Amino acid sequence: MGHNSVQIDPVDASFGATVSGVQVRSLDEPTWQVLHRAWLEYGLLIFPGQYLSRDEQNDFARRFGELEFAAAPISNIGRSGTIHSDPADDVVKAIRGNEGWHHDSTYMPLQAKGAVFTAETVPSNGAPTGFADMRAAYEALDPATQHHLGHLLAYHSLFYSQARAGYMPSKTNDRGGYDAYGYHDGEPSLRPLVKIHPETGRPNLCIGRHAYGIIGMDPIESEALLDRLVQQACQAPRIHYHRWTEGDAIVWDNRRLLHCATEFDLTEPRRMWHTRIAGERASELAVNYA
Ligand SMILES: [Fe+2]
Repeated sequence: MGHNSVQIDPVDASFGATVSGVQVRSLDEPTWQVLHRAWLEYGLLIFPGQYLSRDEQNDFARRFGELEFAAAPISNIGRSGTIHSDPADDVVKAIRGNEGWHHDSTYMPLQAKGAVFTAETVPSNGAPTGFADMRAAYEALDPATQHHLGHLLAYHSLFYSQARAGYMPSKTNDRGGYDAYGYHDGEPSLRPLVKIHPETGRPNLCIGRHAYGIIGMDPIESEALLDRLVQQACQAPRIHYHRWTEGDAIVWDNRRLLHCATEFDLTEPRRMWHTRIAGERASELAVNYA
């Protein structure tokens, strides 16, 4: 299959497309060019029936950039095969925390560029993942609000988001910190609320559950503003929920889109694989780390 067989069908939203007629594990250069352009245009590409191995998934992700981390399980299945379903379990807390709209790794000094996400074992409700278009959300704001937000900076922290949601891990390491990824113990990352996309030049909101403490604003007012922005932004036609089928692979642009997990019956096994693509330092480094 070459680039002539690629079929790109937009989903019913301001972004996102389903791609068929391609084998992600064996892309030729012209097909890759078509896909990369489509990724920048649609922000979310969905590839059904790919059944990628971990190596194939990582190789696909590396086409977009260096990896922040290679394929890691997002799963409620423990090492011994037991299912984590107790609400007090740290694995469950991490899963539930992801149900809030967020960009990945805004809480790290370097925000992620994107991610490849694949489905190995899917619970009966399909455990959809939600995506929301922060470019369209920005464009839907009136010019005065765009101008106002364009001057604001917010901190981003996984400590903030997990504590607020009531999902801090119970287990601490011997230094009193947390071993789970993302509990960055340096200064919290400071980011503009309006981000200029480094490849398209288009502005989009950079908000979500990790954002807090807008500089120069009362913390309560800041929280209310950030909550209101997410609530208004994450509405049709700017949202799309992908209900998973085993073998699906998707790749999203984390600079432009928010995403969130949704609830499923935690007594049913779910195993997803997530490869995170590192942001470019020139555009994804928090302003207080630049
Ligand atoms: Fe995420």
